Amino acid sequence: MQIAPSILSADFAALGSAITAVERGGADLIHVDVMDGHFVPNITIGPPVVRSLKRVTQVPLDVHLMITDPDRYIEAFAAAGAAMISVHVEVLPHLHRTVHAIKALGVRAGVVLNPATPVVALEQIVEDVDFVLVMSVNPGFGGQTFIPRSEAKLREVRAALDRAGNTSAPVEVDGGVDLTNVARVVGAGARILVAGSAIFHAPDPEQATRELKAAATRAQPAPVAAR
Ligand code: DX5
Ligand code: ZN
Repeated sequence: MQIAPSILSADFAALGSAITAVERGGADLIHVDVMDGHFVPNITIGPPVVRSLKRVTQVPLDVHLMITDPDRYIEAFAAAGAAMISVHVEVLPHLHRTVHAIKALGVRAGVVLNPATPVVALEQIVEDVDFVLVMSVNPGFGGQTFIPRSEAKLREVRAALDRAGNTSAPVEVDGGVDLTNVARVVGAGARILVAGSAIFHAPDPEQATRELKAAATRAQPAPVAAR
């Protein structure tokens, strides 16, 4: 079970201390939302910021590219220190090439589905990916409400990965995750939980990280005992 605080909801003038706080709370990854004002109606950060974040944390950086032309920037984000890069299936006609290009850079490759994108879009790529990210809000902004249909979609994605024999690739969920739905998303198979506003809009982000992780761990089914 991994908690990935999204710095989108942190104070951009104080990203270093935001990361220190969630690190102390047990963050497993730092989720970095990259937006270009084209694929989504918002603009955030690019490789130079990722490079600076990399200097202040040992926690792996999970870079979520919400941009129309990810192929142009994958190398730059890998060089900046991304440990994971995820790309949206909606913008990539040559998704297989892109996934393998990410892996060739030594970075874990993920593919992302928007809420309206069907799971069948993954069918030919599930064997190749290191993880799948299910958007549980429409990308672009923090602080939106979890779309209930996402719970079934998490199950469908988990089943698709398992059918393809890719049982070790985790499913990540992003958008509107908080203490009210954490048990549901974990029950549906999510093993990487992104949370922005639930952590950084809480009075104490360190404590909020700790609580979300504890709730997620409690919700995780116990492993089947070895016989
Ligand atoms: C939305 C981003 C998310 C966002 C989640 O486009 O991909 O990572 O930060 O924020 P919350 O947890 O507030 O929905
Ligand atoms: Zn994200």
